[in-house]
Amino acid sequence: MIAKLILDKKREGHALGTAEIRDFIAGFTRGEIPDYQMSALAMAICCRGMTARETADLTAAMKESGRCLDWPMATADKHSTGGVGDKLSLVVQPLAAACGTAVPSLTGRGLGLTGGTADKLETIPGYCASLSLDAFQQVVGDVGVSMTVQTDEITPADRRLYALRDVTGTVASIPLIVASILSKKLAEGAHALVFDVKCGAGAFMKTREEAAALAHALVDGARAAGRKAAALVTDMNAPLGFAVGNANEVAEALAILRGARTEGRDIDLCIELAALMVSLAQDRPLDDARQMCRDRLADGRAYAKFAAMVAAQGGDLEAFAARMAQPTFKFRIQAMKAGRVAAIDAEKVARVALSLGAGRLTAGDRIDPRAGVTLAVQVGARVGTGSPLATLEKSSGPDGLEKAAAELYKAFDIRPEAAEPESLILERIA
Ligand code: URA
Repeated sequence: MIAKLILDKKREGHALGTAEIRDFIAGFTRGEIPDYQMSALAMAICCRGMTARETADLTAAMKESGRCLDWPMATADKHSTGGVGDKLSLVVQPLAAACGTAVPSLTGRGLGLTGGTADKLETIPGYCASLSLDAFQQVVGDVGVSMTVQTDEITPADRRLYALRDVTGTVASIPLIVASILSKKLAEGAHALVFDVKCGAGAFMKTREEAAALAHALVDGARAAGRKAAALVTDMNAPLGFAVGNANEVAEALAILRGARTEGRDIDLCIELAALMVSLAQDRPLDDARQMCRDRLADGRAYAKFAAMVAAQGGDLEAFAARMAQPTFKFRIQAMKAGRVAAIDAEKVARVALSLGAGRLTAGDRIDPRAGVTLAVQVGARVGTGSPLATLEKSSGPDGLEKAAAELYKAFDIRPEAAEPESLILERIA
C-alpha cells in the first residue's frame, strides 16, 4: 500500500477500497504511517465524505486496532453524544441490568462543556473507574453491569486519530465521528446498542438535521456490523434534570434510583433508553420492556444493581453521603420577576459549572467534585419574584461565585407565559 496514492484518491473524491482503508489504519496503528499522513486523510474524509461501506470499513479497521471483547450473555449498552447534566447512564445502565440485560459500559471522562460519566462516578469515594479489562469482565459477569473508562487496549487507533482530529479541525465529520464512536462500542462487544444523540444549545450537534443524520449513520453502521441498534434524537437545549456538576449529579441519580423523585422528562427518557436496550437485547416487545423498566425502577432493583456495581468497584455510598454533607461555598440566585420559565440555556449553565471547577478545559485539569450548579426549577415552572432559580456551589472558596451567579442568571428566560414543555424525544430511529 502506498499511503500517498490513497490520499490522492480520497482528495479526488473517490471511494477507497476495503483493503486500502484496513491497511492504512493498520499502518498508522503500527506507527508506520506518520501523523501528518493520517491527518491528511482525516481532512480529505472531512471534505469528501465517505460512503456507508467505507465508513463501515473504517469502523472495522479501527475496532481491530486493539482488543475486542465477547460476551456469552445478552448484552446492551447506551451511548450518549454528551449533554449538560447528562447523568442518565447512572440510572439507565443499572436499570437495564436489573431487567436481565448485562451492561458492559466503557465510558469517558469529560472535556469541554459536557461532563464524563467516569468523573461523576469517581466522586463516590473509593470507586475505581479505571478497571483493567479483565476486572471489567469480572464485574459484568458477577453484577450484570460495570462502568469504567476505556483502557489503552481498546481501539488505540481511535485514541491517536482523535488527538490528531482535535488539533487539525477534523472533528466535525460524520464518517469520522461514526467510526470513532462505533469502533469503541463494537470492540466493547455489546450485542445491542442504543444511541442518545443530543441536539441543541448544550450539544455537539446544534441542529436537529445534523443530529438525525448522525443518529441514522450510527444505527446503520452498528447494524452493518451485525449488532442490533436503535437511536433517539433528544433535546439538549436545557440541562437534563436539576444537577449539573459531578457529585451533585450522582446524588440526583441516586435520588431517582431510590424513588425520591419519580417524575420528569429526564426520567421518561431514562425509561425509554433502558427499555430500548432490553427490548433489543432480549427480543421483547418495547411496551413490555418499558413496563419492566418502570417496575424495576419502582421496586428498588435498579438501585440495588447500582449499589452492587459501586461496591464491586470499590466505592462506598456511605462515604459519598458523608461527602455530600460536608459544607461547601454556595450562592443562590432568585427570580427577579414573576412568570414562567420558558428556557434554561444549557450551554450557559455548563459554562458556569465549568468556571466553578466542575469540568476540564484541558485533559490534565483537576475537577472539584462538589462544584456545580443545582437548578431549583425546570423549563415550564411558574416562578414569583424571589423564587429560587439555582444554587452555585464549589469547595475551594467563595471567589468567583458572585460573578458566576450573574452569568447563570442570564441562562434563564422568564416570560409572562410559555408553552408546556414537550417530550425530550424528538425523533426515533428504531
Ligand atoms: N465522540 C467520540 O468518541 N468520537 C468522536 O469523533 C466524537 C465524539
